[in-house]
Amino acid sequence: MEIARLEGAGKVYKSGDTEVVALQPTDFKIEKGELVLIIGPSGSGKTTLLSLLGCVIYPSQGKVWINGTYTNHLTDKQMANVRLNNMGFVFQSFNLIAPLNVEENVMLPLTLQGMSGKQAMPKVIKALDLLGMTHRLKSLPKMLSGGEQQRVAIARALVSDPPMLLCDEPTASLDVKSVGVVMKQLQDLAKQGKGVIVVTHDQRLVPYATRVVEVQNGAALEVSQSEYLKNLTNELKV
Ligand SMILES: Nc1ncnc2c1ncn2[C@@H]1O[C@H](COP(=O)(O)OP(=O)(O)O)[C@@H](O)[C@H]1O
Ligand SMILES: [Mg+2]
Repeated sequence: MEIARLEGAGKVYKSGDTEVVALQPTDFKIEKGELVLIIGPSGSGKTTLLSLLGCVIYPSQGKVWINGTYTNHLTDKQMANVRLNNMGFVFQSFNLIAPLNVEENVMLPLTLQGMSGKQAMPKVIKALDLLGMTHRLKSLPKMLSGGEQQRVAIARALVSDPPMLLCDEPTASLDVKSVGVVMKQLQDLAKQGKGVIVVTHDQRLVPYATRVVEVQNGAALEVSQSEYLKNLTNELKV
């Protein structure tokens, strides 16, 4: 079941006389149960592609659908609602709120939706349980390792049970062992029916994906995962 689609969607930034083509017209689709890896070098347009899918920016051209809703003509406020109902966001820098403990951080999206603490608590526990973090309910972010902080951030992105999870370089601040733990958990979430998009420049994440899209100079291209892995192995052999 499709949860997001781009049709010829692209983004051009203008300042004065200069134009930067951040993303050329792109077709893209993600269904429930997929973990799509968007891979490419720095400045290639990955975050722009993710931002279009996340309804964070409007396309300069082309069309965007989220869960069957055509979004191009929506107002800022309506876009915010589309995000609230359909997406959880995960970033490289975790973005946990320092003075709030784990439980309070994960509860925040539900509190913002107007839910009482009593209603929210079972959902908070469920999300933290999925990420194996219920034993740290009362810990402050600074007491956790990078990998643990990212798992809490993923729990927070999931707590409102959105169909789609958008992750921008989620493993870039993690040590090798935590990269494996976090990617395995994102893989499990996809298997449980979420649509997961992971933006990265790290080729080691390719084995965790169900599909790989490569972005280069603002152009996105679906690539064969097995070919990609073969080339990667050859590169590592050299
Ligand atoms: N808000 C913006 N204004 C102007 N140029 C931008 C903006 N956002 C991104 N760009 C440019 O678009 C290109 C792609 O950026 P981005 O999508 O962030 O790449 P990546 O995430 O792959 O590093 C870069 O050349 C970048 O400088
Ligand atoms: Mg980026």
